[in-house]
Amino acid sequence: MKNLQITMEQFIEEACESIKKEADGGPVLCALSGGVDSSVCAALAQRAIGNDLACIFIDTGFMRKNEAKEVEDLFKNAFSINLACCHSEDRFLDKVKGVTEPEMKRKLIGEEFIRVFEEVALECGPVGSLLQGTIYSDVMESGEDGHKSVKAHHNVGGMPTNIKFKNVLEPLKYLYKDEVRECGRTLGLPERLTNRQPFPGPGLAIRCMGEITKQRLALLREADAIFCEEIEKAGLQNEIQQYFAILPGVMNVGVRNNERCYEEMVALRAISTKDIVTASPVRLPYELLETVTNRITIEVPGINRVVLDLTPKPPGTIEWE
Ligand code: XMP
Repeated sequence: MKNLQITMEQFIEEACESIKKEADGGPVLCALSGGVDSSVCAALAQRAIGNDLACIFIDTGFMRKNEAKEVEDLFKNAFSINLACCHSEDRFLDKVKGVTEPEMKRKLIGEEFIRVFEEVALECGPVGSLLQGTIYSDVMESGEDGHKSVKAHHNVGGMPTNIKFKNVLEPLKYLYKDEVRECGRTLGLPERLTNRQPFPGPGLAIRCMGEITKQRLALLREADAIFCEEIEKAGLQNEIQQYFAILPGVMNVGVRNNERCYEEMVALRAISTKDIVTASPVRLPYELLETVTNRITIEVPGINRVVLDLTPKPPGTIEWE
């Protein structure tokens, strides 16, 4: 936070005042992903301008298990936010059909996201301001505010090009991630959301290596949900910054029901990091790993092998693609 002297309540009050001022009575549009930043940003704007805020949630089909429904339930029902949910799974799948190159996946998904956003926005009626959940690390990474550029801001979404916005509102621009989480808690968002781990914009598409199909995404989604469930059952969720499953696209010979099977392999990754620039693998309890492996191979037919990724960053990045 730029001004270290103020409390979170004061920050919220001031941020609401400036949102009101900048929106100037006009409609405000926000792309809500269900991640911490856009969720806190939407909750803040909702407090400031109520129904002048419209949010668009795009289900790309690359979300984790139950994620789309949870976002819809929370914001539409619990927060009464004016939310348009756009179920575009088939459209995104079509776009990446046959594509295996990671950067091409990112590019195609990012572009499609903007097109869908524009279409829904234009259907929603007049648009005034665009609300974005940019936070201080995004500003630094983009090389703004006097910082050296580390990498391009790689959130899916970018800027719609077919809509002319009056201005862009970025109320979280000077908050660090932990302050954004605190802001969310103060606004009454559930811990499950404010503590959410980072999730790449292109989602499971860049954890499903090789060709992305509905069937492969379903395998990955189930394996990932089992891994997350066991970590949470063990109470380790707040000690590990990111934990997830990857489908490397490696087929394995195995035995299922006394017969030969030829199925996918899944990899597990759990890392701890202070700054995202470096990361180390977390030493998960062996019993937990055994339980996860047994559950995945039994409960997810189609996966017959589980491996653990112990690579630090560098040289390995957190994501595999
Ligand atoms: P890497 O894999 O570069 O990831 O070590 C660093 C952090 O960024 C997340 N990540 C992404 N986030 N779009 C995003 O919004 C992306 O394309 C993307 N790729 C990686 C990753 O989960 C980690 O937190």
